[in-house]
Amino acid sequence: GDVAVLVPAAGLGVRLGPGGPKALRLLSGEPLLVHAVRRVAAAGVGCVVVAAPPSEVEAVRELLSGVATATVVAGGATRQHSVSAALAAVPANFEIILVHDAARALTPPSLIVEVAEAVRGGHDAVIPVLPVVDTIKEVSASGAVVGTVDRSVLRAVQTPQGFRRRVLAAAHAAAVDEHTDDAGMVEKLGITVHCVPGDEAAMKITRPVDLVIAEALLARTLA
Ligand code: C5P
Repeated sequence: GDVAVLVPAAGLGVRLGPGGPKALRLLSGEPLLVHAVRRVAAAGVGCVVVAAPPSEVEAVRELLSGVATATVVAGGATRQHSVSAALAAVPANFEIILVHDAARALTPPSLIVEVAEAVRGGHDAVIPVLPVVDTIKEVSASGAVVGTVDRSVLRAVQTPQGFRRRVLAAAHAAAVDEHTDDAGMVEKLGITVHCVPGDEAAMKITRPVDLVIAEALLARTLA
């Protein structure tokens, strides 16, 4: 198809504890990145570009050779730089670009298809979201509660995030400070970001407990 997926996978995974780059940590015997890229390929996309830790580019190429046709580039010091590096490697004919964290290793192909279709349907920028389950409070540096945020207007944001190519390129060209997601950079341009329903299986594997949950999802073939 005309959809390219960028997979930032160059993070260190510090919050997951010791054990090397997060995307290469094992989940049920396979690296998170392999789980993620297999599902991206199953969505039928035309191009996959992975941003790997600079020291692991060759190893990641090898790792993915039996999984999918993917271009592997060296990532950067921040997620934003890794995404920019991957975007630069996408051939000119791809008009829809998805950005998908390797850490969301169990994201179902159906969600990837739905985000791409929403962009194809006319939205410049599309993100999958879920309701927030916890009560969220603003807290001062000294630990005092400043206030309680109205949860009903909040959403937890997942990936893949989908964009018209020119919108993502403009957002990255314009960005000065660091953002934790690509839609945040698009918002700064004054462009409307459209929400679609997310999926529990697209959870971000960040802390040790997330690996336990992900293993359980896999074992029950819920992902
Ligand atoms: O740090 P965070 O959990 O937000 O990372 C989200 C995704 O961005 C992960 O898949 C991680 O590998 C990737 N990343 C990257 N380059 C960095 C930092 C994070 O590709 N320098």
